[in-house]
Amino acid sequence: MRVLQIDASARRAHSSSRMLSAYFIARLRHSLPDLALDYIDTAADCPPPLNATFIEALYTTAAERSPAMKQALSYSDNLCARALMADMLVCAMPMYNFCMPASFKALLDQLVRVNLTYTLNADGSTSGKLAQHKILFITTRGADLRPGSPWHNMDALRPALQAAFAFMGADDPVFVDVQPLENIDSLAKTQLLAQARHTLDALASRWLTGI
Ligand SMILES: Cc1cc2nc3c(=O)[nH]c(=O)nc-3n(C[C@H](O)[C@H](O)[C@H](O)COP(=O)(O)O)c2cc1C
Repeated sequence: MRVLQIDASARRAHSSSRMLSAYFIARLRHSLPDLALDYIDTAADCPPPLNATFIEALYTTAAERSPAMKQALSYSDNLCARALMADMLVCAMPMYNFCMPASFKALLDQLVRVNLTYTLNADGSTSGKLAQHKILFITTRGADLRPGSPWHNMDALRPALQAAFAFMGADDPVFVDVQPLENIDSLAKTQLLAQARHTLDALASRWLTGI
């Protein structure tokens, strides 16, 4: 099995999302020692922002693209190939200002590519290419944005990820949203993180069944 793990927290040490994605990967590795792991750290290596040449290249057939256009698409070509080659995507990130870290958004902009991660059909509909992938999002939040909380309608992170990945064919990704991690005592935080690890254990067992 091939896994693409993506971390996006700007924090290196003491990052809850990085800790949980590493835990999940270790849990998979325990059962599958020959697991092939690919890794991207968007905080350390921020994907390039879209620019005019990139956009122009999107509207130019592959045969007619200039060397500059090919260069502008090269990060995206490589990223899409890595994502399509994987069986599983594990994406971990904190909520920043109610949405995803800018570095992860930059990655998303490079990943949603016509003729690579989705196709446009003759009738105007689209077909995503990530339909067979297992996809996990681990999101960490300082506040509590669960349904019923007064903050719930401020959660622009989960809907944005859901929309973009549904467009690429992934209709049912798994979310492990860990919250609230701030303004709680250290025991409550320890318990929340233990509960998240327990959820990840159960998910790993479920996903590894039959492999
Ligand atoms: C710049 C910044 C913006 C943040 N914005 C939000 C936010 O909008 N909502 C929220 O619940 N938490 C917010 N937080 C808190 C983080 O999401 C929270 O601390 C998370 O657990 C950090 O994950 P990490 O430990 O993996 O970095 C923010 C933190 C930072 C540093």
